[in-house]
Amino acid sequence: MTKVLMVCLGNICRSPLAEGILQSMVDPDEVFVDSAGTAAYHVGNPPDIRSIDVAKKYGIEIGQQRCRVFTTADFETFDHIYAMDKNNYTNILAKAKNDSQKQKVKLLLREVNLGYLEVQDPYHGGTLNFESVFKTISVACRAIADKINSNGRN
Ligand code: 4NP
Repeated sequence: MTKVLMVCLGNICRSPLAEGILQSMVDPDEVFVDSAGTAAYHVGNPPDIRSIDVAKKYGIEIGQQRCRVFTTADFETFDHIYAMDKNNYTNILAKAKNDSQKQKVKLLLREVNLGYLEVQDPYHGGTLNFESVFKTISVACRAIADKINSNGRN
């Protein structure tokens, strides 16, 4: 079982999309996907309605997700921890106890070559920002899913 955690700031816009998108691309018996935020503003809440809506538009249901905070226990549980932007990345790394924990943390967009490394926070944006975030995350999740799926077959 490969365990993947998607992390952003609020865990209501970007990482819930990343969780739902990657989940839709892998076998749930082989890959466990979850998401969390580095901040606690929205704990217990469902994702932002704009994330729920853009996911729904592409056939992915994320409305059942509930916001939670990233904890140091996540370093034990997960094999790969993907940060949406550099602030998230720095904040997660600061909590790591050792090199093996640090090595689990990556910027999501390091998995692809888009020419930029951050999934921009769409919280203060509009529908178009959410659409763009969905597409960017989808490209990265495709690369991750292909890698995980091909490892499983080797
Ligand atoms: P997210 O977006 O990190 O993609 O979930 C945000 C959601 C909420 C806030 C910031 C970013 N906030 O400040 O409440």
